[in-house]
Amino acid sequence: MLRYVTTNEGKVREAREYIECEQFEYDYTEIQSSDIGTVAAHGAREAYREAGEPVLVDDAGLFVDALEGFPGPYSSYVEDTLGIERVQRLVAEEETRRAAFRCVLAYCDGEDFAASPDPVDRENRALAAAGDEDESGAGVPVKLFEGTVRGRIVPPRGEGGFGYDPIFEHEGTTMAEMGVDEKNAISHRGRALAKFGEWYHERSE
Ligand code: IMP
Repeated sequence: MLRYVTTNEGKVREAREYIECEQFEYDYTEIQSSDIGTVAAHGAREAYREAGEPVLVDDAGLFVDALEGFPGPYSSYVEDTLGIERVQRLVAEEETRRAAFRCVLAYCDGEDFAASPDPVDRENRALAAAGDEDESGAGVPVKLFEGTVRGRIVPPRGEGGFGYDPIFEHEGTTMAEMGVDEKNAISHRGRALAKFGEWYHERSE
């Protein structure tokens, strides 16, 4: 069974609309990088070494246009320290409140993959960046699937979802005002999961 690597139950709820998976509550090392794909690829190698079974790591971030993409890879830290309401107030002072949510899914099962249509991370760069000298698993390829949704930052509305959902509005509705199906249909994670699901089901046939 595929292990969905996260401590966030909200992510698993959304993923189960696309794939059969078991939550693997493993807190992988989030290396410092400006690219969430690099963070996810490193996490997938680490989680695969730990689980010894196919794993899918989900790394996401909020990228605010007026703040040059901040908080981006630091979204989790910023949510825990500033909180989403302060992020919203910060953005409210800017000329534009446009933002994007990005999600990268990183899949690893110890096998090799074709790069097309989605990229494969084959480099040791993630390990090198983390200063990890451990060679085991360094060459294990990771397949990446990405999804993006654009929207704007608004005062919090809605009770559903998690994280920044109450302040992220897409076409008049915040992601916290949407049900799981509705959010999946437009969200960064839904788009990445749809790509992954299609590839994964073909692969398992
Ligand atoms: P991570 O991918 O778990 O590291 O999440 C990074 C940050 O983005 C955390 O603060 C999450 O709460 C937030 N986040 C991740 N996915 C979503 C989402 O779908 N909606 C709103 N916030 C999210």
